[in-house]
Order: sequence, then structure tokens, then C-alpha cells
Amino acid sequence: MRARDPSEGDIDVAAIRAEFPAFARRVNDKPLVYLDSASTTQKPRAVIDVMRRAFEATANIHRGVHALSVEATEAFEAVRGKVARAIGRNDPGEIVFVRGTTEAINLVAQSYGRAHVREGDEILVTELEHHSNLVPWQMLCEEKRSRLQVLPIDDRGDVLLERLDSLLSPRTRIVAVSHVSNSLGTVLPVAEIARRAKAAGAVVVVDGAQAMAHVPVDVEALGCDFYALSAHKVYGPTGVGVLWGRRGLLEKMPPWQGGGDMVLSVSLARSTYREAPHKFEAGTPDIVGVIGFGAALDWLEDKAPRRMASREGRLLAYATRALGSVPGLRIVGTPREKAAVISFTIDGVHPHDLGTALDLEGIAVRAGHHCAQPVMDHFHLDATVRASFGVYSDEGDVDALTSALERAARLLGASAR
Ligand code: ALA
Repeated sequence: MRARDPSEGDIDVAAIRAEFPAFARRVNDKPLVYLDSASTTQKPRAVIDVMRRAFEATANIHRGVHALSVEATEAFEAVRGKVARAIGRNDPGEIVFVRGTTEAINLVAQSYGRAHVREGDEILVTELEHHSNLVPWQMLCEEKRSRLQVLPIDDRGDVLLERLDSLLSPRTRIVAVSHVSNSLGTVLPVAEIARRAKAAGAVVVVDGAQAMAHVPVDVEALGCDFYALSAHKVYGPTGVGVLWGRRGLLEKMPPWQGGGDMVLSVSLARSTYREAPHKFEAGTPDIVGVIGFGAALDWLEDKAPRRMASREGRLLAYATRALGSVPGLRIVGTPREKAAVISFTIDGVHPHDLGTALDLEGIAVRAGHHCAQPVMDHFHLDATVRASFGVYSDEGDVDALTSALERAARLLGASAR
């Protein structure tokens, strides 16, 4: 853990929690301990209020001449600029709104991938990928008779960077990597991977679903070509995500879904399409969701994300020490750089039983393969329990988790033996 920088100041976690209505709830008659932010974050009142107002007097966008439609269009379009700035860019035209990270990656695979990948070409992923950054590429490889190459990980959960050059070839068209692993918390050396991939002539797609809430995102510094993210992982609503792509690439890509709002003109014989990003946004989007995402970005910026990241680092170190004292507990994933996610198992207790035992104490964690079955395969596991932290998490949550695990290990471990 790095030394604490006093200039970063302290985050008043109690004040932050008070902004989240979820923490007023009791679960199984206990105060909620929410340690499942990698699945989805809780939403602050600021976001809920903006969305409620957008629903209270609502209208469709881009189509209306009436005041409500103009208002909704302006509020929706303003979010492109906010997202662009949040990831280190200035051009709102590079921001495509989609349903989430999964859809963003499928868009790249189906539009850029289908147009550029040919039989015998290669696509490279890592062994750490979430299914959403693996299955779309497998589907494309099957269709195009191209080959999927995989950069393996070691037993700490770090990618074996020294193998990268031997896996890249003149046939590598796409390199698709996570920024932060959802199952182990590994922060991948994306800038280095991108530098080498670009030198080999590939385009670089980054699955940023888990990153934005934990590490600074600057697509220019990362050197990637596409970056996919989801609003609901950064205190915004579900159903909204973003594909960022370099303008030059987006302009040359064909649309992938046809319908209203993505066309310039339509006749029975043929249609012409709008420029990016609109040509990728067929149909009525999640207007209120996008506006809510803008509110989440404003909220996050206001709460000083740099200070939050440093607090999370301290919390992760605290949790790693605390969980180490639970009998039979093994932390899965000890990479060099790690975001605020801890996967673990306890000898003799199935992760789903642990998840249920924790739930009875009001503690929400995720138990399962985390949509990353190849990662589980690497560690010869079916599942782990995963505790993941957000801006509202604190040492009290970790203490509650640790004591509940000690009780569960005693009870369930004993009954299993
Ligand atoms: N991708 C989400 C997770 O890691 C759902 O839990």
C-alpha cells in the first residue's frame, strides 16, 4: 500500500452514506452492509432526483419541436460532453450511448469486427476477461473463421506480459482487454498492452466496466481505440452505457442496428445514415437513464474521485489484513495492482452457502463465477465469494463481514466435516 498523502484529505463516509437511500434499509432485520458494488453500485439521491424530474415531465428526443422535447434533447446531448471529459476527451461526437458495456463490445465486434476481420486473422483477449469481453469475440471468430488468442495469467492474477509479443502477429486485428478484472480486481497494464498491440497494427478495445469507479480513466493515456463502460457501475442507472471510439474509426464503421433516428433518408429501395455517433443509436434510447448518468458523473466529480481512489486503496489493505484472520480463508487474486475487489474461498464451505449465510446477516456479496468462468478454471474453482467496495464502504463494513465469516466458517465448516 502506498503512503497516505495528507493533502488528499479525508472522505466523510458517514456523510456520503447519508446521500444513499439504500442505507436507510434493513435487510433480514439487520442494517445493510453492501459489498457488491462491482455488480452494481447503489444510487445517490442526487441521481434519483434528477431521474424522477426527467420522468415527471417527459418527452422523446431529436424528434419534437415542442419545448419538452427540446429540453430533453438538450439534457440528453449534454451528457455526451460530460462522458467525454470524464475519460479525457473533448469530442462529444465520439460518445455512443448503448445499453451497457456488453452492448458496447458487441457493437465493436459486429460493426468494426465484421468489416475488418477475415479468415485466418487473429483476435487477442486475456484469460481474465468477463464473458462480455470474450463471447462476442468467440462469436466473431466462429463467423469469420478467425482465431482467438489468449494472454494467460499467473497464479497471482496478473497477465503474463512477457508472453504478449509472441501472441501478437501481423494477423492480429483486435486486442480486447479489461481495464480492471471484475473477478479478481487486477488492474491490467492496459497502456503497455495497447502500445505493443498498436505497434503490431491491431486496434485496442478496453472493457472499462469495473474501472471508472476505482481508477482514473484517460483513454488518451491508455492509448486505446475503443473504451466500453456502464453507468450503473459508477452510481448511475442500469440500462445505459457508453462506447467511446476514435472519431476516425467510428466514421468508417457501418451501422449495426437499423431503425429510426439513425437515418438521413429512407425510401423503399434504400436508406442513408447519419454520422457517428447517431448512426449507432437506432430507436428511442434510455433518455432518462442517460440524463441520470450525467447526474452521476456530476456527483462523482463533486466528491473528488482522486481522494476516493486513495481511500479505497487503504480500505482494500485493511480488508485484506482482516480477512486473513478468518480460519481457512484464501484470497484468490493477489495481483501487483488491485482495485477494491476481494475474491475468496473458505475451506470446506461452498461459496453459495457463504453468500446465503452473509445475507442472513444483512451483508450483500456476490457468490459464483462472476461471469468469468475461465478465471475460475485457472484457479480450479467453480466459484468464489466476492466482496467489492464503493465510495460508501468503510472499515465497519469490513469488520461486519469478517465477524460474519468467522461465524459462518465455524458453523458451516464444522457441519461439512
Ligand atoms: N459484471 C458484474 C459483476 O461483476 C455483473 O458482478
